[in-house]
Amino acid sequence: MSDEIAFVPTMGALHAGHLELIKRARELSPEVVVSIFVNPLQFENPDDLAKYPRDLPADTQKALAAGATKVWAPLYEEVYPREIEKIFAGPIGELFEGRHRVGHFDGMLTVVHRLFEVVKPTYAIFGEKDFQQLFIVKKWVIENNVPVQIISVPTVRDKDGLALSSRNVRLSEADRKIALVINRALSTGSREGMLSTLAAESNFQLDYAEVIDEQSFGLAVQDTKFKRGIVAGWINGVRLLDNMAMGSN
Ligand code: PAF
Repeated sequence: MSDEIAFVPTMGALHAGHLELIKRARELSPEVVVSIFVNPLQFENPDDLAKYPRDLPADTQKALAAGATKVWAPLYEEVYPREIEKIFAGPIGELFEGRHRVGHFDGMLTVVHRLFEVVKPTYAIFGEKDFQQLFIVKKWVIENNVPVQIISVPTVRDKDGLALSSRNVRLSEADRKIALVINRALSTGSREGMLSTLAAESNFQLDYAEVIDEQSFGLAVQDTKFKRGIVAGWINGVRLLDNMAMGSN
């Protein structure tokens, strides 16, 4: 039996996107651990933390059905049993998402570090949906020789193009239709296209829409080889984000 663990860290509210992560984990190892922990340290907004959807019994069932061999839903004290050793995400953690959610990436890396300490995975699987998170985790792993292989899985979308997100359950039917503007904007393939598409939807409040260099996470320039559009904003009090590759030179 393999002693390699494939690990899928989650905050619960599992949807088909998470299930793809679990299926990918199962391809990597027969031992698949899924954690479910809503990490207060990465919520800069108490209202968002309070409203974060939680359904442990349903999540456990879904994770096991998708191939998890262990579902771990620790208490706060298990994750943070002593004084918290904060991990800092560095300057990239202050850009884009980090500018709008101050401290978010430090909180995210702090919990990822602790979860890795306990689970000791060989592989950890992250979705491309949170592209900046994926970039920051990969960078931290490389720079600190963390002995975990980071595996990424493409974003799962509904048929109409909306990226799956745990926050989508908070959208009304009308708001969900408005949310499709994000996919339309990214599909234009340029920053100008994104901005004009998003500006035409008055119910969408933009946080940012940029095109970044996938290799550095800085703003893309004309010669950038791998570009990616990144968008975040609000619809009726629900914050959504998405990203899409924008071709290469
Ligand atoms: O992507 C998430 O759900 C969270 O940021 C993570 C990686 C589980 C850390 O809390």
